[in-house]
Amino acid sequence: MKTTLSFANLAAIQTELLAVPAIDTQTEKGPNAKSAPTLLTADPAVTAAATAVLASGEYKAGANETLLLHAPPGLAAKRLLIVGLGKQAKATVHSVRNAAGTAVRFSKPRGIRELAFALPENESKSLPPAGVARAAIEGALVGDFDPDTYRSDRKDQSVQSFTLLAPAGADRAAVESAFAEGVTIGESQNFTRSLVNEPGNKLTPTIMGQRAAAMAKEVGLACEVHSTEKLHELKMGAFWGVSQGSEEPPALIVLRYEPPGVTDGPVLGLVGKGITFDTGGISIKPGDNMEKMKYDMAGGAAMLGAMRAIAQLKPKVRVIAIVCASENMPDGKAYKPGDVLTAMSGKTIDIINTDAEGRLVLADGLCYAKKLGATHLIDAATLTGAIGVALGKINAGAFSNDEATFEKFNAALAISGEKFWRMPLGEEYADLIKSDIADIKNTGGRYGGASTAAEFLKVFAEDTPWIHLDIAGLAWIDESKPYVASGPSGIAVRSILEWVRSFSA
Ligand code: BES
Ligand code: MN
Ligand code: ZN
Repeated sequence: MKTTLSFANLAAIQTELLAVPAIDTQTEKGPNAKSAPTLLTADPAVTAAATAVLASGEYKAGANETLLLHAPPGLAAKRLLIVGLGKQAKATVHSVRNAAGTAVRFSKPRGIRELAFALPENESKSLPPAGVARAAIEGALVGDFDPDTYRSDRKDQSVQSFTLLAPAGADRAAVESAFAEGVTIGESQNFTRSLVNEPGNKLTPTIMGQRAAAMAKEVGLACEVHSTEKLHELKMGAFWGVSQGSEEPPALIVLRYEPPGVTDGPVLGLVGKGITFDTGGISIKPGDNMEKMKYDMAGGAAMLGAMRAIAQLKPKVRVIAIVCASENMPDGKAYKPGDVLTAMSGKTIDIINTDAEGRLVLADGLCYAKKLGATHLIDAATLTGAIGVALGKINAGAFSNDEATFEKFNAALAISGEKFWRMPLGEEYADLIKSDIADIKNTGGRYGGASTAAEFLKVFAEDTPWIHLDIAGLAWIDESKPYVASGPSGIAVRSILEWVRSFSA
């Protein structure tokens, strides 16, 4: 998708489709309250073209509600699409992100390959011009992604050209740089989604390593991809325990971002779970929905997408990313319940269930990040079904051992628009993973499963400030929305990126 920023006049823009946002300014409640759809432009031609339909009451400007007019009089555009942001009081930059995605996804099945989207003109605290520019271009790129890569009858309906129209009176330099950032971020989120979308046979750990290396080369990151030998050399017994039952060798992917001149200050360690297929191992999963376990590398893919964006946006802070890529398979050589593994840190782990494999690869990933100098850690993983039971497919889970570090993540969420809910840690949860034979066991029972999994990781983060993101419930979208296709979501890329940027010197 070609992306362009323009400050041109709305009526004059020659395009297949001009999308203009509207809000509902109605504030009354009760049975007689009527919605009051209001266009967020003062352009007289656009306003005139929409007057009759807005007065009809047929269109309410609800969030992502669309209305199409052909051959709008007085406009150079062939079509005028009104896209709702919902109630005025609730309209934010994130509503604009979704509205831009909605405009793109409205166009795709109709064969409209080129469109323009007008940013809201009436500047307000909740709709700052640079913020909406960035969000809108992110939303447009995210909206353009479809997961049907392997269909032989695939009609590529991608939008070829998307123009963002910013108000002529806006601070141009600020809007331009926000736009450029948004392009990088949207493309990086889609990079993650394209990896997560790949089936297990097409994206083995080795291939994930190759994709990471190719991306690193493209954006100028240092990259090393190691395998079995290095796992043995580093004594990564937990990671290797998971990998030993697979014909496919593991990949230990290490990416480094070292901005010139930054020689002190924090080193951020990003650690991702990269299980390219999770059968459950000897504690094998039931067949229903097992095909979904190709997305068990979504945390690792999120780290790769975040690194891609970091390399381009160049914050002044050093970052290391580690992705622990492996299959989890049942086999004659596979690890078994009752086995005891020795992790890189020296801690011993009593294996209760081989399906709790993510925490094992992450245990060694976290330990290695610290060994490479990380002063702050963040991990992302499709770690537990329990997080989905607790929070639904609405919020992802976040855990932390450090208030200041979590506060930075919370601030990042306001920019990313992603939803994470802080979940509890604590000694009572830690008690549930005590083992009779080893230092800890790898499961703590059904209840509180997301928190006991996080407690397990905390044992390896030790005293280093650390955030754990459990994205199992949100990494895959089951039902499409007006602004995003069903399939891989790319959750966490934007929030991790903003968290990293908040450390920039
Ligand atoms: N990859 C799964 C978690 C998962 C579940 C991801 C659903 C996405 C959707 C993880 O490896 C796993 O199997 N977790 C177990 C842990 C249990 C054995 C303690 C689970 O959640 O059931
Ligand atoms: Mn599992
Ligand atoms: Zn898993």
